[in-house]
Amino acid sequence: MGYVRISPAADRDGHVIEHRDGTFYLQTAHTSYWFAVTEHGHLEHIHYGPRLAIQDPSALRWSRVARGGSTVAYAPEDVRYSLDTLPLEFSGIGQGDYRTSPCEIRTAHVGYDLDLGYRGHEVHAGSLAARTLPTAHGTPAEATTLVIDLADERAGIEVALHYTVFAAADVITRRVVVRNTGPAEVVVEKLLSFQLDLPEASLGGAPRLITFDGAWIAETHAHDRPIGPGFSGVSSSTGSSSNRHNPGFLLAAADADEDHGRVHGFNLVYSGNHLGSVERGATGLLRVAGGINPQGFSWPLAPGEEFETPEAVLAFADTGFNGLSERMHRFVVDHVLPARYRRTPRPVAYNSWEALSFDVSERRLLKQARRAADLGMELFVVDDGWFAGRKDDTAGLGDYAVDDAKFPRGLGSLVTKLSALGLQAGIWVEPEMVNEDSELYRTHPEWALRIPGKPARLGRQQHVLDLCNPDVCDYVVASVGALLDAHDFRYVKWDMNRHLADTHSPHVRAPGMTAHQYVANLHDVLRRIFEPRPHVLLETCSSGGNRFDLAMLAHSAMIWASDDTDPIERLEIQQGLSYLYPLSTISAHISNAPHQQTLRNTPLSTRFNVACFGVLGYEYDLELLSSEERKEVREQIAFYRTHRDLFQHGRFRRHTKPHPDRFVWQVDDGDRTILGNFQRRVVAAPAPDLLPVAGLEPETTYRVRSKPQRLMIDRFGDLINHVTPIRLDPRGVVLSTAAKFTSLTDAAEEYVGTGALLAQGIRLHHQFSGTEYHPGIRMLGDHGSTLYVVERLEEGP
Ligand code: DGJ
Repeated sequence: MGYVRISPAADRDGHVIEHRDGTFYLQTAHTSYWFAVTEHGHLEHIHYGPRLAIQDPSALRWSRVARGGSTVAYAPEDVRYSLDTLPLEFSGIGQGDYRTSPCEIRTAHVGYDLDLGYRGHEVHAGSLAARTLPTAHGTPAEATTLVIDLADERAGIEVALHYTVFAAADVITRRVVVRNTGPAEVVVEKLLSFQLDLPEASLGGAPRLITFDGAWIAETHAHDRPIGPGFSGVSSSTGSSSNRHNPGFLLAAADADEDHGRVHGFNLVYSGNHLGSVERGATGLLRVAGGINPQGFSWPLAPGEEFETPEAVLAFADTGFNGLSERMHRFVVDHVLPARYRRTPRPVAYNSWEALSFDVSERRLLKQARRAADLGMELFVVDDGWFAGRKDDTAGLGDYAVDDAKFPRGLGSLVTKLSALGLQAGIWVEPEMVNEDSELYRTHPEWALRIPGKPARLGRQQHVLDLCNPDVCDYVVASVGALLDAHDFRYVKWDMNRHLADTHSPHVRAPGMTAHQYVANLHDVLRRIFEPRPHVLLETCSSGGNRFDLAMLAHSAMIWASDDTDPIERLEIQQGLSYLYPLSTISAHISNAPHQQTLRNTPLSTRFNVACFGVLGYEYDLELLSSEERKEVREQIAFYRTHRDLFQHGRFRRHTKPHPDRFVWQVDDGDRTILGNFQRRVVAAPAPDLLPVAGLEPETTYRVRSKPQRLMIDRFGDLINHVTPIRLDPRGVVLSTAAKFTSLTDAAEEYVGTGALLAQGIRLHHQFSGTEYHPGIRMLGDHGSTLYVVERLEEGP
């Protein structure tokens, strides 16, 4: 019967989708996803896990030899068939399945009653693009799509379940299209993108849920907990994917760790209000589901109309969290990012925000730019404050005319001068917003989202423009397009600094449509602006990581991960992101310390050592750098540029934390490996540290060397007197002058061994423990870190 072949390299049997005896077999290189049509036409989920050879799946099907207690039989003649105890692919409503349904569709004649039965299926080569939302892309050689048609003729509803199998990437995406086939309007009140009923036993019986949660300046911290009875999950109602809960989440076996065990990963190609949930009932099944958050959502469908959900991304690995991450990373790079950004090197950026805030001008920027160019930076980004009226956050948003007082010769003059310095030019915009104090708002107050007759609420002093209004979309496309066409900008930072409230637009048919229509139109706006301008590198941002999601990555190369540039906070943020997003999409900058967000004082070396695991940039008043700091920054940038490919596109691994206050990260590409060893907090009398290294060839000999970095002497205060011949006042002129021009050497370490030896964990040099200092001692203290570069010395036999 129907199957599609792909290249044998990607799939050993050559089958991606096979339909045999009522069972659908979806096969990726290392995973299998199977389901079958039951005798009553429902789709019974059979298996999602390690790849299995295609065969009779009976042994994996849920037993139905006895009636379930406290259940309702689906058919009077078949009392053992209850939808409540079956693992299902997509439930209806009111048929005896008392778990939460992925859909609620209200019809005029039957209300809430939906019994979806199999009617047919089609297989397509390649991915099928959605009409209204971004989706992952795959050529016929990379992807195969199965569309299963379900229907309830009485309710007048057809539901198409889309499964796209990215065989080599080991990812399956799912989405749903619903169609009103009845004679009257229906209202879709909930429609999730997927449902997956997994046996708890497949995750060792005590599954864990891992979510990525936080707040402004504290995004995407990983939280790992056992799944208890009832509901667990995350959602967003801010209008965007939000800094509170990322739409991506994981389900893991009790014993899974970074390198072992079964892990399922879920994400959404969506930037709006989302819901991701796990329901643990009494029958040994977990119902996992995700999609648009039904809170405040409703979508009327006239006869013949359709509604499509965002696409969900599903992956499985039995090689721990790192195995899962590797699949998700490859998938994002190959099938979500626009092809033009796929493996292109991201430049080292200077961004004006943390140093200059709104106080930018050609003169002030050029002072920074000269230093940035001299230090080796490649891109110079003019952040907020460049347009008329933008003295602070109370004014100017909406009008993108350059401020003549700050830029008397226009932006063109700055761009030309940047180019003469060898720097590409980049510009910040926030086009979804408007300040009341702006020409745009004075002309079009009705362009802001608001509830009629009620004053609209402000967030960061601004209103949200009503992107449901096509005129607003045209204005944004024209104004940003004109800005880009008038100047040779090679980069845009697209910001969005408030949540939605008063989510009402006169340009949709029903109030519950506004939030989703806003997001759909935003994607259309981004497509219209950036697709015709492939020379522009797009970075998206929303008060930092308030919209870090796959739908934004369908347009942009990277996302500003957080307004928090404190590396100790960034360890959590970037590590959290790394579970689902590749390093080439995580924008990470170095700023001055004490940090604007935490007042924490951290070494310059650690600021770099964390930021280099991502897309590197600096947000720093470069005029304040001492001579020693300039040398350090110059070397950091040279090091990053040498290893850029590894940091942006290498394979990333998290090592299991040997201690809650230690993080160990690794990037490798088969030839080179770099490790980052980070200590959040020092403990007195520390035990020797082991540095884990993975992925080396057992018989090849390697040399591991610490990246040279400076210890700035002002870090030591009075302690410096232990190593100086004369006594110095730590607050005196001599020491503060010396600190600008001298520094100490941080641990110079070198280790040699075969891959097999190093895999035992390198016994690192002692760290400082109050007894002595010399260049062989690792001077970590609180917030200390070291990078280690692993080079091949001799190939094994
Ligand atoms: C929020 C962003 O996250 C910052 O990086 C900066 O661009 C400001 N907005 C500017 O207003």
